[in-house]
Formats: sequence, C-alpha cells, structure tokens
Amino acid sequence: MSEQPHPAADADKLWGGRFNEPTDAFVERFTASVTFDQRLYKHDIQGSIAHATMLAKVGVLTDAERDAIIEGLQSIEAEIEAGRFEWSILLEDVHMNIESALTQRIGIVGKKLHTGRSRNDQVATDVRLYLRDAIDLSASELTRLQSGLIELAQREAETIMPGFTHLQTAQPVTFGHHLLAWNEMLQRDYERLMDLRKRVNILPLGAAALAGTTYPIDRTFTAELLGFDRASENSLDSVSDRDFAIEFTSFASLLLMHLSRMSEELVLWTSAQFNFIDLPDRFCTGSSIMPQKKNPDVPELVRGKSGRVFGHLMSLLTLMKSQPLAYNKDNQEDKEPLFDAIDTVQGCLRAFADMVPALVPRREVMREAARRGFATATDLADYLVRKGVAFRDAHEIVGKSVAYGVEQNKDLADMSLAELQVFSSQIQADVFDVLTLEGSVAARDHLGGTAPNQVRAAATRARNRLRQRSGQAD
Ligand code: ARG
Repeated sequence: MSEQPHPAADADKLWGGRFNEPTDAFVERFTASVTFDQRLYKHDIQGSIAHATMLAKVGVLTDAERDAIIEGLQSIEAEIEAGRFEWSILLEDVHMNIESALTQRIGIVGKKLHTGRSRNDQVATDVRLYLRDAIDLSASELTRLQSGLIELAQREAETIMPGFTHLQTAQPVTFGHHLLAWNEMLQRDYERLMDLRKRVNILPLGAAALAGTTYPIDRTFTAELLGFDRASENSLDSVSDRDFAIEFTSFASLLLMHLSRMSEELVLWTSAQFNFIDLPDRFCTGSSIMPQKKNPDVPELVRGKSGRVFGHLMSLLTLMKSQPLAYNKDNQEDKEPLFDAIDTVQGCLRAFADMVPALVPRREVMREAARRGFATATDLADYLVRKGVAFRDAHEIVGKSVAYGVEQNKDLADMSLAELQVFSSQIQADVFDVLTLEGSVAARDHLGGTAPNQVRAAATRARNRLRQRSGQAD
C-alpha cells in the first residue's frame, strides 16, 4: 500500500487523511445519518459554542478565534433555520456538515473547533441536550392534560356512572372519580419523566473519542454553560451508553399504555351502545360511505400509536445489548427510534390535552346505565350485615333478589318493600336509602373512595400537586 494518498481519495472528507480510495457510493449512503440527525442542528451548535467558549477560557483558543467560531456557527444556524443550508450526504452526519460549513465560512480557525473533542462525545452531548428539551416540552403538555382532567373531575364529582370490573357493571361510581383514576396514572408518568431527566442532564463532552483528551479542558465549566447538573464520571461510559434513551422510551411506553387505556374507554363511551359522552366534531371524522358515522379517530389513533413506541423500546434495548465498550457505530441507530418516540409522545399528549376538556358527558345516560345494572347489590349486602346478617348469607340473599329482578326486569330500587322482604325479614323501609345510587356513592366516604366530597378533596390535592411543579404554570 502506498504511503501517499491515492489521487482519487476524497480530500473533502474530514477524516480523509489515511484513506487511499474514495468511499463506495452505496456505503456512503448506507453509513450516513444526516438525513435523520440534522434535527440535532440547534443542539449541535449550542454544544459547539459551549466547547469553544471553554477552550478559550483554558487558553487553547484565543478570544478572537472563539468569537469567529461563535459568529460562524450562529450564521450557520440562521441559514439552517431559513431553509437555505445545503446538507450533504458526503459529509455523513450533522456534526461534519456543520463543521465543514464553518471552515468554509471562517477559514482555518474553523478547523480548531474540534480540538479536544470527538464526534463520539459530541453526539452523546447533542442527543442529551435534544432529549432534555423534549422532556421539558412533554412535561408541560402532561401538566396541561392533567390540569384539564382535574378540572373536569371537579365538575363531575357528583355525576353517577356504572363502575366496571370485567367490563360488567359492578358498583356505581362518580365520573369524577373515574377521571381522577386517569390522573393518577399520568401523575406517575410525570414523576417517572422528572426522575429520568436527572440522568439525562449530565455532560458527556470531554470524554473525546473514549479516553479523554490531552488538553487542559474544564468540563465543569462546559457543564455549567450548557445547564447540565454535572459532568459525567467516566469517559468510556459517557460515549457508549444509551440507557438514557431507553429510559425515555420506557417512560413513553408506559405513558402510551395509559393513554391507550383511556382511548379505549373513550372509544367505548362514544359508541351508540354506551353513549356516555360526546366528543366535539373537531376531534372526529366521518365515513365516506356511511353518512351517519362519526368516528372517534383521535383516541383510536392514540391507542394504535402505543404499538410503535413499545417497538422502539425493544429496538433500543436490543441495540444496546452486548455492545462492548466504548463507542460503536451501532449507536447511530439510537436516533430514529428515540426521535419517533419523542414525536409520538408529543403528538398524543397534545391531542389529549386539547380533547379531554372538550369532552361532553351525558349524565342522564350514565346514571341510567348504573341504575339498570344492579349496581347497588353490594350496598344491599352491606345493609344486611349492619342488621346482623353474616356477609356470606347476605351475599346469598342479595343474589336471590337479583335473580328475581332479572326475571321480573326490575332493579333492586324498583322493588317494593314486600317483594324485598321475601328474601330477608331483616329488610326494613330504610333499605331504600342505600339502594339509591346517590346513597351508594356517598357511603364510600373515605380517602380514595368514590363519594363526591372525597372526589372534590382528591381533585383539590391533585391540583395542589400540579401547582408545586417548579416553573410550570397550570
Ligand atoms: N453519526 C454518528 C452517530 O450518530 C456520530 C458519531 C460517529 N463517530 C464515529 N467515530 N464514527 O453516532
């Protein structure tokens, strides 16, 4: 092999020095990431500005060189934002596209920017910065959704609906209580998000390719400039692990799992068979063939989108599995699943935050559904227990009364005292207080119960938790 570069070697490549023939045209496209990593441009430039500022502080760059670099990077950012920047696949990724444009613009000084860093620590930094912004945006959308949910729950604290187990009418609950169950799911998702943010917000820059750098860098200063909580501890770990992306995707999977459950209920509730709620037309679409149709597309789509996010979680886990230290090109494959998980979370949260406050409950229909399903059977059993009957016997008595009701097409509350007394002489006129739906929900009057005053108190506590979220208005 000749010591001299082959005349055909691509001199434009930032790493072209040791190569004797140009890259195969297909390999060039196959290895390039610029088509999907260009969305990191803002964070790449933010990271580079901080890096140059740090290099000047420690005397590796002069102040004039730093200023030229920063100015050049800012003008590149403006050009990208104006849609005038020409991305080139030949320059492989967002990092080399920007660095090469910088050198074209400001000359030789541009080549000094990469002193003391590598694309390995650069890309790890960019992804963390990008993800941190995505986390903050998701957190505020989640807060907006929870806020709408809590407000609706407060309004519907007395609305009675059937509560279900096995999707069969079980006991009456309040609609506000049901909505606050959704809020609890989202509250845990929010807490998971805030917890993982702590592990995202750590600076890898300075790890360089894998072992650190010989320049007298000040990583704590760079961390401060970029708003990271601290610099990472170990250079090998910093450039290689993508567990933070897996954590976000795992948060996203749990959130989407929850949103899919809510979606499923919304789809059921808007059906003619349930008819519990109405979704405003703007969240629905029609059918091109059946003129009567109004389809709940938004919840259906959210329910469906959970699948792609679970898939991304599995891709990222598999991507990372068995990778030896330190950086491997495999890691370039972290971006598409992560970006799509981010986009999906943001889309679904936005749709839900807009739609939930606009949902119109049909209170009479819900109440009637609860009335029809023997939903107060447990209340009758509890009543008998209070009169001295053992619970198992009470269960049997009520079972027989329900069988009679099914036969006669009568709910418990519709039976006369004489009819009820056939099943137990302990039943007195005061039984009707517990057989009413209002009496049934009001009696579940303890922390976590469905009584309207408990729902109101729970909604107030939930609202206070939202208020405590730092920097978030609700
Ligand atoms: N595009 C690459 C990635 O996404 C950047 C880092 C490449 N480093 C390298 N030594 N090839 O991971």
